[in-house]
Amino acid sequence: MSESEIREDERTRRALVLHPVIKSTLKAAPADQRRRPEARLEEATGLAKAIDLEVVHAELIWVSAWRPSTLIGSGKVEELAHFIAEHPVDVVIVDAAVTPVQQRNLERALKAKVIDRTGLILEIFGDRARTKEGRLQVELAHLTYQRSRLVRSWTHLERQRGGFGFLGGPGESQLEIDRRLIGERIARIKAELEHVVNTRSLHRRARQKVPYPVVALVGYTNAGKSTLFNRLTASEVFAKDLLFATLDPTMRVVRLPSGRRIILSDTVGFISELPTHLVAAFRATLEEVIAADLILHVRDMSHPDRDAQAKDVYDVLASLGIDDESGHRVLEAWNKADLLPVSELTTLQNQASRHDSAVVISALDGSGCPVLLQRIEAMLGRDRVELDVTLDAGDGAALAWLHRHGEVIDMHEENGHLRLSVAMSQAEAGKWLKRQDRKHA
Ligand code: GTP
Repeated sequence: MSESEIREDERTRRALVLHPVIKSTLKAAPADQRRRPEARLEEATGLAKAIDLEVVHAELIWVSAWRPSTLIGSGKVEELAHFIAEHPVDVVIVDAAVTPVQQRNLERALKAKVIDRTGLILEIFGDRARTKEGRLQVELAHLTYQRSRLVRSWTHLERQRGGFGFLGGPGESQLEIDRRLIGERIARIKAELEHVVNTRSLHRRARQKVPYPVVALVGYTNAGKSTLFNRLTASEVFAKDLLFATLDPTMRVVRLPSGRRIILSDTVGFISELPTHLVAAFRATLEEVIAADLILHVRDMSHPDRDAQAKDVYDVLASLGIDDESGHRVLEAWNKADLLPVSELTTLQNQASRHDSAVVISALDGSGCPVLLQRIEAMLGRDRVELDVTLDAGDGAALAWLHRHGEVIDMHEENGHLRLSVAMSQAEAGKWLKRQDRKHA
C-alpha cells in the first residue's frame, strides 16, 4: 500500500495492544476452537510488531458483555486514558471487531487513533503484498473499510461546504464529499485491477506451459512457512532460469529426490478470524493456492493452540473452495519438532507415520525435510507416467511439444533417432498418444 494509515513516516510508532474477551463465550466454544486468550494477545502483539510498531503495553481485557458505545467498560476506558496520558502512543490496537461508533468514542476518550482487528489485518496484508495486484487489492479493501467507517457523527465533517462549489455540489456536506472521493478512488482502483488481472492471466497461461507441478505453502501466521521455503529452495539457482523470469519472487524451483522439479510457492499467512469479506478480496492473490497441484500445510506443533489454528487454515481453504476429502491434495508439515519434548515428538511421529498425509519436520534444523520431499514426490507421482519416445532427429515440432507438456528426463541420439524419457501427467500422455495416432493415420 502506498500510504499506510498508521505509518506515515519513518519514525517507529508506539502502540498499545488490547485483546478484549467475554468470559462466557470462551467457555461456550467447542474444545478445538477454544484458544487461550493469552495466546491471542501474544498473536496480536506479534502482528503489531511485524508491521514495525513498538508495543508499549499489551493487555487482556475481560468483559461481561460488549458495550455498544465503547466496547469495553467505562472504568477500563478511563484507566487506559490515564495510562496513555502518561505513556503516549500513536495507535491503540483493539483485537476485536469494533464498530465505527465505538471506534470514534474510544478515539475521543483515549486521545489516540484506534484500529480494530480488520484494520490490523489490512495493515499486515498491505505490508506483505508483493505484487502490484496484491497492493491494489489491499488498497481496495482498505478504502471499502474506510468508507464504512465514515460515520455521520463527526461534527466537523458535517459542516456544510456550500460556497466552495469547486469541491462538491451546492449543499454537499464534507461527509458526502469524503464518500464521493473514496468512491471515485475505488472505481479507479477497480479499473486498474482489472487491467492487472488480465495481464496476470496472460502470464499464468504462459506459465501453464511449464510442466512442473506447483506446490503451495499455506499455514497459520508464524508457523514457519518462510523458514521452510528458504530451506527447501536454498540450493536452487533461480534468477538465471529464464523460464521463470515472470514469476512472482515468492516462487522458486525445487528439485525432488528423483531429480523431478516442482515450483514451490509461498503465500501470506492465514490469520484467525480472517473476516470473510477479506478472504473474498484476497481471493485472487490466493489463486496460486487454488490452482496448486499440492498444498503443503505448515503447522507449528509447539503451539498450544495448534488444533484451533489448523481449523482456521482449513476454514480459509474451504472458503476458497478447497476441501481435501480425497486426502490427496493437502500434505501437513508438522513443524518445530526441535521445540517438542521427546515423548511428544515420539507420539507425533507415530501418528504421522500412520497417516500418509503428515511429516514431522524442523524447518530450522532441517530434520525431516528429506522425508518431506519424498512424500511430496509420492503424492505428486499419483498422476505421473513416464513415456519412452523415439523421434526422427528432424522432428522439431514433436520435440517442442514434449518439452512444453512434459518433463524431459533423458534424451540421447541413437542411430539417427532421438530417444527420450519423458514424464508427464496421464492427461498429457493421452494427448501425446492421440497426436501420434493422428500423425500415423
Ligand atoms: P508469517 O509470515 O507470519 O505467516 O510466518 P511464517 O509462517 O512465514 O513463519 P516464519 O518462517 O517467519 O517463522 C516464524 C518464527 O518461527 C521465526 O522466528 C522462525 O525462526 C521460527 N521457526 C520456523 N521454523 C522453526 C522450527 O522448525 N523450529 C524453531 N525452533 N523455530 C522455527
